Formats: sequence, C-alpha cells, structure tokens
Amino acid sequence: MVGVDQVLEKLATVVDPDLKKDIVSMGMIKDLELNSGDLKFTLELTTPACPFNDEIEADVRKVIDDIDGIENFDMKVTAKVMEGRSLDDDSLATVKNVIGVASGKGGVGKSTVSLNLALALSQTGAKVGLLDADIYGPSIPLMLGMKDGAMEVEDNKLQPATFNDLKVVSFGFFAEQEHQAAIYRGPIISGILKQFLVDTNWTNLDYLIVDLPPGTGDIPLTLAQTIPITGILVVTTPQDVASNVAVKAIGMFDKLNVPILGVVENMSYFSCPDCSNKHYIFGNGGAKKISEKHEIPFLGEIPLNSGIMEGSDLGKPVMMTNTESPSADAFRIAAKNVAAQCSIVAAKLQEEIQAEATTN
Ligand SMILES: Nc1ncnc2c1ncn2[C@@H]1O[C@H](COP(=O)(O)OP(=O)(O)OP(=O)(O)O)[C@@H](O)[C@H]1O
Ligand SMILES: [Mg+2]
Repeated sequence: MVGVDQVLEKLATVVDPDLKKDIVSMGMIKDLELNSGDLKFTLELTTPACPFNDEIEADVRKVIDDIDGIENFDMKVTAKVMEGRSLDDDSLATVKNVIGVASGKGGVGKSTVSLNLALALSQTGAKVGLLDADIYGPSIPLMLGMKDGAMEVEDNKLQPATFNDLKVVSFGFFAEQEHQAAIYRGPIISGILKQFLVDTNWTNLDYLIVDLPPGTGDIPLTLAQTIPITGILVVTTPQDVASNVAVKAIGMFDKLNVPILGVVENMSYFSCPDCSNKHYIFGNGGAKKISEKHEIPFLGEIPLNSGIMEGSDLGKPVMMTNTESPSADAFRIAAKNVAAQCSIVAAKLQEEIQAEATTN
C-alpha cells in the first residue's frame, strides 16, 4: 500500500522554477492526510502572483496521478507570501515585502508603473499598500482621482486611504499641498518619509510599493537606510539617455547593499491599433541591455499607450478600467515577475536564517 513517505518522495520531484527548490523542502505541502488510498493536502504557494503557479499545480497533479494506489485526491491551493525582508529591528514588522520603485531620470513613468503594479498585485488577492514617497511632487492622489482628507490620524498613527483594496499614503492627501510645491529641506523631507513608513498603520501587507522621486537624493537614501527593504525596481524608458542614468540609480542601491529586483521598461513600444504590431519607436532593447550587463532580471515592458496616460489624468488607472487591454496584460506580467523576484529574495533570506541557526 502506498505510504506518506512515497507520496512526499514523488512530490519532491516538483521544483519551483524560480526558487530552484523542490516544493517539499520549501514547506509548500501542508496538512497531508493519507487514508487507505485517499490523499489530501494543501499546496501553499509562495505568492498568489507567482508566474509559475499554474505550472506547479499541474505538475503536482501529474505526479500524484502517476502514483499507484491513490484512489481519491483532494488538493486545496492557497498562497502565503514569504517575508522578503529581515524583520530583526521590528520596524514595519507587519509588512512582508517593501519594494522601492526608482529611476535615474524623471518622467519615465515610475508613478504610473507603481500604481498599476500595485493594483495588479492586489488583484491576485495579495494585500498591497502604495506609498507615494515623492514628497516634493506627489502624483498618486491625482492618478487615483482622490483628494485631500483621505487619510486620518488615529492613536498617533496615520491611517492610509483606501482605493479598492489598496492602502495608499501620500503627502498629496494633505489639503494644503494640493496646489503647492513642497519647499522643505532634506532633513524634514526625510522625517516625513520615516513617519509615512513607520508611523502608519500598514496592517499586514504582503507588498508595500514605494513610489520614489527620480534620482539618488535624500528620499531614496532615506528609504534604504530607515527600514530593511526587499529590493528596488528600476523603471527606464528605451532611450539611451534614460538608460544611462538608470545605471547610476542601480549603482547607488548596490552600494547600500539593497537588492535590485530588476528593470521594467516603460513606454517600450507603440502598439498599433490598425496592424496590431509592436513598433519600437524609441529603439529596441535598452533595458534588456542594462539587465544583461548588470546581471539583473528584466521584468517586463509596458507599451506607450494614450489610454495609460488618460487613465492617470482622469483618476482611472488602466488596471481598474481597462483590465482586458494589452497594457493591463503587460502590467500583470511585470507584477508577477516582481512577486517572483520577491520570493527569490525571501527564500535566500530564509536560507541565511537557517544557516545561522545551525551554526549557533
Ligand atoms: N506607458 C505609458 N504610456 C503613455 N503615457 C505614459 C506611460 N507611462 C507614463 N505615461 C505618462 O507619462 C507622464 C509621466 O509619468 P509618471 O508621472 O508616471 O512618471 P514619473 O517617473 O513618476 O515622473 P516623476 O519623475 O516626475 O515622478 C504622465 O503623464 C503619464 O501619464
Ligand atoms: Mg512620479
């Protein structure tokens, strides 16, 4: 008769393509019960947004199918996002992953990408927050069609605004900022960001996306030095100028030992409505070249599309209003790749923690 060991041995032949580890040693099989040919267990994936979830599930079913003696098989599939940051110092301990969205140059679409990626992740069922860290020029409230007063303070903690299932914090929600440029000096700006990170009720988030201002100034530096972060997502456009500046941003985070999760190329190509071809009007492959040269993952390309811009201007992001469009597909792909990179960072972290525990 088939036994639990035999089932686990077979299940251990299924390998997560991103983490390059088998699903049994990753602890993805939970609550396994085997009673004279009746098998049931839960497959707990590392994120609901993993690009390989369907493949892993299909592989598991195939492996179980091939075991003689299993009469009935019942599998529940769930996902529990892994912790991609070391929570030693307890700062923001309720947030499993913090992802900074950076660029070298301004106007490449960080805010657009941050918002639509946050929505795409949230639509997979993950709990997601969006922190608009562009204190000088917050643009997220406009992109959401939300105004001041959307955030409240309770028990000395900021309560994020809510947009669908997304938790959002932005300096732009403070009334007096609406038509005014912030003119604060660096230390004050850093202080505001610290408060937004640490003194905010970010309850139990799987992913907190932090939309950074361009360049390598006080705000990106404060983010990297205030709390442990999972990694940085670099947004570039295909033009060489943007790409060269992007490399500077990558260098800064590298120096600070912050992992680079990868590059997303925005406004990559024009998707022609008449011939449905992709036209690489600014040249092709800029971000891919960066990713190859610096050995960082290429996470996706987002088309240049007037619908994306209009959606932002009207407070109706494409990920909410045009979910079947090729633009939404592109954001979904990038979001899954970002989630996969977070799982990779998390798995490495777990390995380090285990290695430390065994040496002590
Ligand atoms: N893929 C796209 N297709 C069309 N328009 C886009 C796309 N991405 C961004 N835009 C538009 O480009 C402009 C700049 O985008 P966004 O504000 O997101 O850039 P940013 O990098 O955050 O800018 P900043 O550096 O000022 O913070 C906006 O008008 C936005 O609507
Ligand atoms: Mg911006």
